[in-house]
Amino acid sequence: MKSAEIRKAFLDFFKQKGHTIVKSDNLVPQKDPSLLFTTAGMVQFKPLWIGAPLEYSRAVSIQKCLRAGGKGSDLENVGKTLRHHTFFEMLGNFSFGDYFKKEAIEFAWEFLIHVLKIDKEPLWVSVYKNDDEAYDIWHKVIGLPKGRIVRLGDKDNFWGPAGDAGACGPSSEIYIDLGPKKGCGRPDCSVGCDCERYLEFWNIVFPQFDQQKDGTRLALERRGIDTGMGLERLSFIMQDVNNNYETDLFKPIISAIQKISNVKYSTANKPAFHVIADHIRALT
Ligand code: SER
Repeated sequence: MKSAEIRKAFLDFFKQKGHTIVKSDNLVPQKDPSLLFTTAGMVQFKPLWIGAPLEYSRAVSIQKCLRAGGKGSDLENVGKTLRHHTFFEMLGNFSFGDYFKKEAIEFAWEFLIHVLKIDKEPLWVSVYKNDDEAYDIWHKVIGLPKGRIVRLGDKDNFWGPAGDAGACGPSSEIYIDLGPKKGCGRPDCSVGCDCERYLEFWNIVFPQFDQQKDGTRLALERRGIDTGMGLERLSFIMQDVNNNYETDLFKPIISAIQKISNVKYSTANKPAFHVIADHIRALT
């Protein structure tokens, strides 16, 4: 499935579930001075969880994001891993005081299994360490075996806020097991390991706190849902390729670099090609 078809399928699916399609916001946020760049789909919606007037309570977007500095920067990972980018597109569905954990998890599963027809066997999920509600939804409602549901802590399963304040909360992430060949081989390698085996590709956040600048967490005016799925990672999963850089999003850029530099893309120079391709895309 081409990346353009994935974008359309995502918007169509959530529109049909009552979501308003909202355009990608400016890459430089206009209303949040604590952020230099838009780092997530939720950035343009931050006021809606803390009480701003609502034109819709469900939204879907494909947000252009840049994580090239400050909190959550991926700059140093580009070229070292096959899954990080400074610029990427985030597919996201959002609820502002509307649906919560059960519907969000059901929507995600329906989209992956019934629309994209991804095989469910290699799929794993993580939940926040004490989030029994999300655990039970995955196990009892979705039917995911307990052995493929992992409880992780703050580093992996608590998201936000973006910038210095606002909506944040525990999350549940969806991973695909790419098999032992992609792994580090360590006996404790599992979901949450930094190697390439378990690829996290969809983060479902349950925003329920309004974090203040001093770090205090108050209850959100409108708790809800904030999800983010990397188009580059999903394109890799949906295309018959080995990593993000071989998808239709990067292939033309890699070919152009070969042509201009007169250097062939090879195992030895892959990291350099990936850095150039990533940075050119971000700058553009
Ligand atoms: N805000 C969350 C993230 O960036 C989910 O969209 O991962």
